Amino acid sequence: MDVVLLGSGNVATHLAKALKAKGENVIQVYSQNLDNAKLLANELSAEAISNYTDLNNKADLYIISVKDDAIDEVAAQLKNVRGLVVHTSGTTDINVLSKHGLRSGVFYPLQTFSKGKSVSFDNIPLCIEAENETDLNKLEKLANTLSNKVYNLDGEKRKVLHLTAVFACNFPNHLYALAAKILDSNQLEFDILRPLIFETADKVMTNLPINVQTGPAVRDDQNTINKHLNMLNNLPELQDIYQTLSNSIKITHK
Ligand SMILES: NC(=O)c1ccc[n+]([C@@H]2O[C@H](COP(=O)([O-])OP(=O)(O)OC[C@H]3O[C@@H](n4cnc5c(N)ncnc54)[C@H](OP(=O)(O)O)[C@@H]3O)[C@@H](O)[C@H]2O)c1
Repeated sequence: MDVVLLGSGNVATHLAKALKAKGENVIQVYSQNLDNAKLLANELSAEAISNYTDLNNKADLYIISVKDDAIDEVAAQLKNVRGLVVHTSGTTDINVLSKHGLRSGVFYPLQTFSKGKSVSFDNIPLCIEAENETDLNKLEKLANTLSNKVYNLDGEKRKVLHLTAVFACNFPNHLYALAAKILDSNQLEFDILRPLIFETADKVMTNLPINVQTGPAVRDDQNTINKHLNMLNNLPELQDIYQTLSNSIKITHK
């Protein structure tokens, strides 16, 4: 299948490489920044473009993997293509594509992708959606070559999954970043926390999170909580987060 990637960020990079590894023919990479397009296109032996007028109109599949807020404006540039057009967003409706008269679909991988970290697609849940059955079958076939976890989900369910991904992935990662900041300002290395972070994630592979909560809030150790809040006197935003999360743990475990 001839594939055009629109976007050269985290998801575009991983998806394009995974598709190529499965024998798909990634023919073009579009980015608004030609250097970014070239970086990815060179790895795929594809053409790098930064102008929509250079777009190959005869590809089978166009994957829009740009920031959510830019999907609409990118889709608007694809009016002349006849192939299937998908986006990779969790919380963007399929009609952001169909309103432009495109053969529309969604190909949302429920995983966290960063360019510098390799991932295996084998177990990544791939949430697909399409406007007609023929295109859905095509997407399903393609998705099945990448992963053994393919889900045919409507937009509402996909949005819920994305919301939970923010809670389960994006927020914890931000909390790691805040922990790293506190360690750093006390001349301690982030490395010392890695076994704890690993065990926290590993525990919920075999337990429900609510059953393995630890820490001062679930024990109702108010003196410890107060000491921590005092230690954050100079970092009021972190104090707010600490208080909000501690209250949430207490309410959940009442
Ligand atoms: N990262 C994840 O873990 C993840 C997981 C699942 C789904 N997704 C979804 O995948 C999509 C891409 O996310 P990402 O994390 O890969 O993003 P990213 O790494 O931040 O890359 C964003 C891309 O959007 C492009 N872009 C931004 N504004 C644009 C515009 N006005 N016109 C054209 N291109 C524009 C950027 O192009 P330049 O480089 O040229 O600026 C860049 O290639 C999003 O819909 C996101 O919700 C992300």
